[in-house]
Amino acid sequence: MTIPTSVAVDSQGRPLTDLRISVTDRCNFRCTYCMPKGVFGRDFKFLASAALLTFEEIERLARIFIAHGVEKIRLTGGEPLLRRGLDRLVARLAAIDGLTDLTLTTNGSLLDKQARALRDAGLRRITVSLDSLDDAVFRAMNDVDFPVARVLAGIEAASAAGFERIKINCVVKRGVNESSIVELARRFRGTGHVVRFIEYMDVGSTNGWRLDDVVPASEILELLEAEFGVRPIAPVKRSDVASRYEFADGSGEFGVIASVTQPFCRDCSRARLSSEGLLYTCLFATVGQDLRAPLREGKSDAEIASLLRGIWHVRADRYSELRTADTVKLPKVEMSHIGG
Ligand code: GTP
Ligand code: 5AD
Ligand code: SF4
Ligand code: SF4
Repeated sequence: MTIPTSVAVDSQGRPLTDLRISVTDRCNFRCTYCMPKGVFGRDFKFLASAALLTFEEIERLARIFIAHGVEKIRLTGGEPLLRRGLDRLVARLAAIDGLTDLTLTTNGSLLDKQARALRDAGLRRITVSLDSLDDAVFRAMNDVDFPVARVLAGIEAASAAGFERIKINCVVKRGVNESSIVELARRFRGTGHVVRFIEYMDVGSTNGWRLDDVVPASEILELLEAEFGVRPIAPVKRSDVASRYEFADGSGEFGVIASVTQPFCRDCSRARLSSEGLLYTCLFATVGQDLRAPLREGKSDAEIASLLRGIWHVRADRYSELRTADTVKLPKVEMSHIGG
């Protein structure tokens, strides 16, 4: 196993252990809370393919990050399964010593076709976004009329391909899908899969976020407690974003991600790389630091490593802890650009 050559620690003493790599800024969904059609319409200019980091470039950066303490990589998008040949990137990353967790977040729409190849390439875990089991609600939320049955088929295909403990991410929006909370919990308990309910966040600048649209984790828990009875369970890692719970009858686990009402910046060890190679040190950042230019200008690994150490060393981000009515209005990178 590779021993990190130098563990990067930021100005608040937080190590760099997780890297989220976006492989495309495109998505085949237009979830109203993420890529509203009014902004991401026909005329929207997505990145040209020459702008995207190649698989070679991503692997090279991943090796440098891993040498600085990164243990977990999550592939994201947009929708990562839209990136052609993604299983080849998975195979390259899976082969790197020192990486203990390699996973991916997908909307599930293409999983039925790709789950097996991704598994065979060495992907170890998978997270599927699924906001409702009600077909009408789901179609309205993805806003491209995509049927929920096909996402469920994707989850089945992933399970059949050998993925266990699939995480199911549900963003809860007031007045839109609260009724999905109990439904999703009921559907997936007893399957070994883990549903996580996420407070709707003010990421990006296009989704028209209002505090009133957030269903607080405390309310989500009250609903589940009343229906099933629930107990908290211990976190696995300090930096985990989800608080874990189990159903009182032992039928499984679920999580809540309370990034608005109970921010977790204090232990945030995540960096995000956009598909064109900008490094963001916070989900709510306004600017990213370009790592593609030094790669393409022929800089050495040591030079890029020193750039990375410099960026992480001065990092002071704790947006969610400092959120105010004014910060909500700041221009921020879009979620679909850095994958959540
Ligand atoms: P596991 O390792 O499988 O538990 O997943 P994870 O902890 O990496 O969680 P995942 O990537 O599925 O993130 C779930 C959701 O939590 C994201 O979609 C975001 O909405 C939110 N989230 C994740 N990371 C952060 C973060 O650093 N800050 C904030 N504010 N929210 C985050
Ligand atoms: N608030 C919370 N979660 C969000 N996601 C996308 N936009 C938001 C938002 N505004 C989630 C998606 C997916 C992951 C990539 O990020 O549901 O699970
Ligand atoms: Fe929806 Fe995910 Fe696509 Fe955003 S990236 S529009 S959350 S499926
Ligand atoms: Fe980390 Fe920024 Fe999220 Fe806080 S708001 S947990 S610093 S990504």
